[in-house]
Amino acid sequence: MSQLKKIYDNNIAWAKKIKANRPDFFSNLSKQQSPEYLWIGCSDSRVVAEQLVGLQPGELFVHRNIANVVVPTDLNCLSVIQYAVEVLRVKHIIVCGHYGCGGVQASMEAAEHGLIDNWLCHIKHVHQKNEEELLKISDKTERLNRLCELNVIEQAQNICHTTVVQRAWRNNTELSVHGCIYTLETGLLKDLNVRYNEMNQMNDIYQLRKAKKDIYKPTITIMKSDYEGR
Ligand code: CO
Repeated sequence: MSQLKKIYDNNIAWAKKIKANRPDFFSNLSKQQSPEYLWIGCSDSRVVAEQLVGLQPGELFVHRNIANVVVPTDLNCLSVIQYAVEVLRVKHIIVCGHYGCGGVQASMEAAEHGLIDNWLCHIKHVHQKNEEELLKISDKTERLNRLCELNVIEQAQNICHTTVVQRAWRNNTELSVHGCIYTLETGLLKDLNVRYNEMNQMNDIYQLRKAKKDIYKPTITIMKSDYEGR
């Protein structure tokens, strides 16, 4: 008997239930997906993206990692954002954190956890940046939860700094980046009132203009003449 019997049995029951209510559901869905939202959330098994916002398969494009971190050199996350924005043409990117996040908590500890500390270092940067505010909070849990919120805001900004989002805005694409946070104890989302939909909302340092074509010209010329000379 398969060690994953429960998983396969559940799958059969799930597919059967959906097909009974909507006979064409899977055949229609197999032809295309047109989600309006990209969700970037924590891998925590309790923060179930589609379910907690009541969306059906095909309605939410999802990327999850530990503590919902967006790093500008993370090819995995960047590829998800590019595909979502340029191919699926999602209108909204939602960063969703959650209170009591184990990843954020681990980032606040001095004890070494191994390799993961390199990933969590991105949250330590958020901690350091907001140290003054965080030090004023004496309650440990409250301080952790505030860092969970600040981490969402920071990661939403990181999304806006990517070439993908900046190019979309330069081309007047309708695209908003939002931040929210989930409470495990109530199952409710809280809007952090983070909404970015144009380049001017970003600090000047991060604003990218169109590349100057002549920067690339010499390289192309060299490559072409090399090829023709063969
Ligand atoms: Co978490």
